[in-house]
Amino acid sequence: MPLPSPYEYKYAEIHVAMSFLVSWDTLPTFAVVLDDRVIGTVQIRIAADKMTSDVGYSIARRHWGKGLMVEAVAAVIEWAFGAFDIVKVGAQADFRNRQSWRVMEKLGMKREGILRSQEPPNPVNPNERVDMVHYGILREEWESKAGE
Ligand SMILES: CC(C)(COP(=O)(O)OP(=O)(O)OC[C@H]1O[C@@H](n2cnc3c(N)ncnc32)[C@H](O)[C@@H]1OP(=O)(O)O)[C@@H](O)C(=O)NCCC(=O)NCCS
Repeated sequence: MPLPSPYEYKYAEIHVAMSFLVSWDTLPTFAVVLDDRVIGTVQIRIAADKMTSDVGYSIARRHWGKGLMVEAVAAVIEWAFGAFDIVKVGAQADFRNRQSWRVMEKLGMKREGILRSQEPPNPVNPNERVDMVHYGILREEWESKAGE
């Protein structure tokens, strides 16, 4: 993730504040809550002009590997297809982030391609560019999956 390193407490505070401030029409942002504690977030960026969207997500490390993110993102995709006039939900990850693209595959998304050297350097690794893998699921694919 292109986050500041070390990730100081103030960055978390800014992240939470921004999550409240972003527009619900263009970037709905959800907290993932387990036993009354926030353990992660799911955001979906709506491009109304293109009728598409992009979902992003993260969950606290101690909850990795339990399938929780798939469950949370599925709930947000289901909500977004109902709330917005969109034809597709996409997602992207650093190609090396297998954990993330496995979430996309378990959601029923299809791999659409790898864009090489796509992301610019970030604060953690100022000298590297990153290959990004793109996935997506169309409205009709989501609906036929739900009917299975
Ligand atoms: C990517 C992320 C959201 C996955 O969430 P999750 O709830 O752990 O997802 P799952 O439990 O479905 O596991 C996904 C895959 O990661 C694997 N995995 C889980 N924890 C792992 C670990 N510590 N090391 C290696 N693989 C791991 C799982 O085995 C699974 O693969 P499989 O389906 O082939 O068995 C989570 O790792 C995360 O928040 N990472 C940091 C933020 C991030 O990368 N967000 C995505 C940016 S595009």
